[in-house]
Amino acid sequence: MKAIQVEEYGGRDALSVVAKDVPEPGDSEVRIEVKAAGINFADIMQRRGHYHGGPEAPYVPGLEVAGVVDAVGDGVGRSVGDEVVTMLGGGGYAEYAIADAAGLFDVPEGLSFEEAAGFPVQFLTARNCLHEWGGLEEGEAVLIHAAAGGVGTAAVQIAREAGAEIFGTASTPEKLELASSLGCDHPINYEEEDFVEVVKEHTDYGADLVLDGIGGETTERSLDALKQFGRMVVYGAASGRPGTPSTADILFANQRIIGYHLGRATQLKPMKVMGAVPELTELLSDRKLEVQFDRSFDLDDAADAHEYIEGRESMGKVVLVP
Ligand SMILES: NC(=O)c1ccc[n+]([C@@H]2O[C@H](COP(=O)([O-])OP(=O)(O)OC[C@H]3O[C@@H](n4cnc5c(N)ncnc54)[C@H](OP(=O)(O)O)[C@@H]3O)[C@@H](O)[C@H]2O)c1
Repeated sequence: MKAIQVEEYGGRDALSVVAKDVPEPGDSEVRIEVKAAGINFADIMQRRGHYHGGPEAPYVPGLEVAGVVDAVGDGVGRSVGDEVVTMLGGGGYAEYAIADAAGLFDVPEGLSFEEAAGFPVQFLTARNCLHEWGGLEEGEAVLIHAAAGGVGTAAVQIAREAGAEIFGTASTPEKLELASSLGCDHPINYEEEDFVEVVKEHTDYGADLVLDGIGGETTERSLDALKQFGRMVVYGAASGRPGTPSTADILFANQRIIGYHLGRATQLKPMKVMGAVPELTELLSDRKLEVQFDRSFDLDDAADAHEYIEGRESMGKVVLVP
C-alpha cells in the first residue's frame, strides 16, 4: 500500500511517499480502508520535531481517518463494510490504517468521508475546551483565537449553539467573514486591531473564557482580555512558542489557566473526552454544526497540504484522499 512517511524531522520535504505492506489487524482491532485522512496542525508540529512527546522518525503521520472497515481481528463487534471514523495514535496518511475497535464511531449520517475525517480531533477539542474544560455558560463572553481555523470554526459554532457572545480573531478579512457567517459576533482582525481593546470595549471587564491554540504573545496578552475569575484554556502553540504568562498577573486577577491535550486526556479519562461524541454526531447529522471543509489533497501531495496549512491559507478543514 501507499503511505506518507516522515523520514527525518524537517520541512515539507520530510514527507515521502513510500510503499508498505498492508497491515493486519490484531485482537480488538480493525483495518480501515482509508477514504479520507484529516490533517491537523499537530501533524506539522510533529513533522518539525517540535511536538512534546511526538513520534520518533521514521513514522507515518495522521491522527484521524474516515473509511470502510476492511478486515476485523478477534473479539471485534464490527463488520467488514462498516463506514467509520476514528482517531489514531498515528498512521492515518496511508491507504489502510489499523485502529482500536473500541475507538470507532459511525460516520455521521449525511456526511461525506472528507467531512467525517474533519470531525473527531477538531470538534472534540473545540467542544471539550469550551464545555468540559472551560465550563462555558449561556450568555458568557468567549474569545476564540484563529476563529477561521479547524478548531476555531468548530468552536465558533459550538459556542453559538451554547448562546455565548463570541469574539474571534483571525488574520484576514476572508477568514473573519467565515467566522462571522458561523456566528462570531465580534470578528477581530488582529493585524489591524488590538483584540484586548475590542473585548474590553464590548464587555464590562473582559471575556469570561479564552480559547488559545496560538501561544506566545497571544497567550500572554489574552490574560489582559480576561476578566477577574476568568478562565483560559490553552491547547496549542501554532505560533511555535508556548506562552509564558506571569503568575503574578494570574493570582491578582483570580484567573485560571487550564491545559487541554486530547491524546493524553483520551488515554487517561476517555469518557470525559468521548462523552460528547453522540451529541456532536447528532448535531452534525442535523446540520446544526458543519465541518467547514476547505479542500482535499491527494495523498501523494501531503507536502503541498502541509505547506498550505503552514502558510495560513487554510480556512477550516483540510484532508488527504488516498
Ligand atoms: N491540545 C489538543 O489536543 C489539540 C487538538 C487539536 C488542535 N490543537 C492545536 O490547536 C491549534 C489549531 O489547530 P488546527 O489544526 O485547528 O489548525 P488551524 O487553526 O486550522 O491552523 C492554525 C491557525 O493558527 C493561526 N496562526 C497563528 N500564528 C501562526 C503561525 N505562526 N503559523 C501558522 N499558523 C498560525 C493561523 O490563523 P490566522 O491566520 O487567522 O492567525 C492558522 O490558520 C494548533 O496549535 C494545534 O496544535 C491542539
